[in-house]
Amino acid sequence: MAYETPNFAALLPAIATDLVVEERPIPVPGPGEILVRNHVIALNPIDWKRQAWGFLVPSYPAVLGTDHTGTIAVVGPGVTTLSKGDRVLGFPDGFLTGSHSHSAFQTYTVVSASLSTRLPASLSFQAAATLPTAAAYATLALFGVLNLPRPTTTGPTPKTGKGILIWGASSSVGAGSVQVAAKLAGLTVFATASAAHHARLRELGAAAVVDYHSPTAVAEIAAAAAREGVEIVYGVDAISEAATLRPTVEVLARFKGEGIRLVHSLPWPAELARPEGWEAVQVQGEQAFGERKELAEWLFAEKLTGWLEAGVIVPGAHRVVEGGLGGIQSGLNELKAGKVSSEKLVVEV
Ligand SMILES: NC(=O)c1ccc[n+]([C@@H]2O[C@H](COP(=O)([O-])OP(=O)(O)OC[C@H]3O[C@@H](n4cnc5c(N)ncnc54)[C@H](OP(=O)(O)O)[C@@H]3O)[C@@H](O)[C@H]2O)c1
Repeated sequence: MAYETPNFAALLPAIATDLVVEERPIPVPGPGEILVRNHVIALNPIDWKRQAWGFLVPSYPAVLGTDHTGTIAVVGPGVTTLSKGDRVLGFPDGFLTGSHSHSAFQTYTVVSASLSTRLPASLSFQAAATLPTAAAYATLALFGVLNLPRPTTTGPTPKTGKGILIWGASSSVGAGSVQVAAKLAGLTVFATASAAHHARLRELGAAAVVDYHSPTAVAEIAAAAAREGVEIVYGVDAISEAATLRPTVEVLARFKGEGIRLVHSLPWPAELARPEGWEAVQVQGEQAFGERKELAEWLFAEKLTGWLEAGVIVPGAHRVVEGGLGGIQSGLNELKAGKVSSEKLVVEV
């Protein structure tokens, strides 16, 4: 088969080393899989954490990366829903399986067809690349961990009269959760973010946004709930440090509720007491490839194209890091330094 280009990858030679761009074989899709000629790859905090700390990296040299968009180059056996040439986004499972072929930081990536989404013509590869991880985590958090009823229609879901707090709402996981909660789960959303992001978060569906730097943030959120006339029954902490979980728990403790009420994106900090009388549960992204695969397939293969076409889910802001695959390292350095605010770094391949 003739390919448009060889496969180059930003390879991680060993733990805590810089990425180097080298050629590696073009991966071959198996049954139910597609080979995507990547056009845009997005960078996530998990990428620098795997690079620096070596977790979920079973062998070196490794290929990292979870979010990609591009054009289907080859359709594997048994795939009937997608065709060669389709524009797609994908959520490949390399960060769980360790498979370098199923990882994003290269020219070609193999991904399950059922964890891929055909893109509306109006959506750019750059904008769409911001979506896979954010949409997956928001879906796993709300319809998986919190077990809220899934929407049956494409349009906005009617309000349930229940509220949710989303702490760190300007992060990509947070902004995805705001949209899913407000538009697809029928919840009234109370969000926290720096002031610069308040207008955008209200556009995405938040009823009220509070600056988390404010010393009275918890009281301001409670006052906003009183104004809206709803109880804040649930919470998602997209940042999940002790400094963010503490006020999130404080808010939820002001309202009634039982069972699982709070989703956190990282392990619970050892120094922080767990809430009493109700539960907090970590969302595990890798569940999209295992015990929650059905939910992830519902998102990517069944729903996301329609939600994007209808504007129910809107991609976040992005910034292109120059240098293609060779620019990934500088982008990961920026993420690690905590210099990125409310925009997804992407590279063009
Ligand atoms: N469990 C999993 O499988 C999983 C999956 C994905 C991500 N994660 C983790 O979830 C976290 C978020 O990931 P992401 O990709 O969404 O991050 P991101 O988009 O890079 O988040 C950046 C944003 O975080 C906000 N932020 C930083 N510190 C904050 C604080 N103390 N309080 C409130 N907001 C704060 C900033 O908001 P402002 O600009 O408004 O200040 C900034 O815009 C990361 O730690 C990531 O590793 C876990």
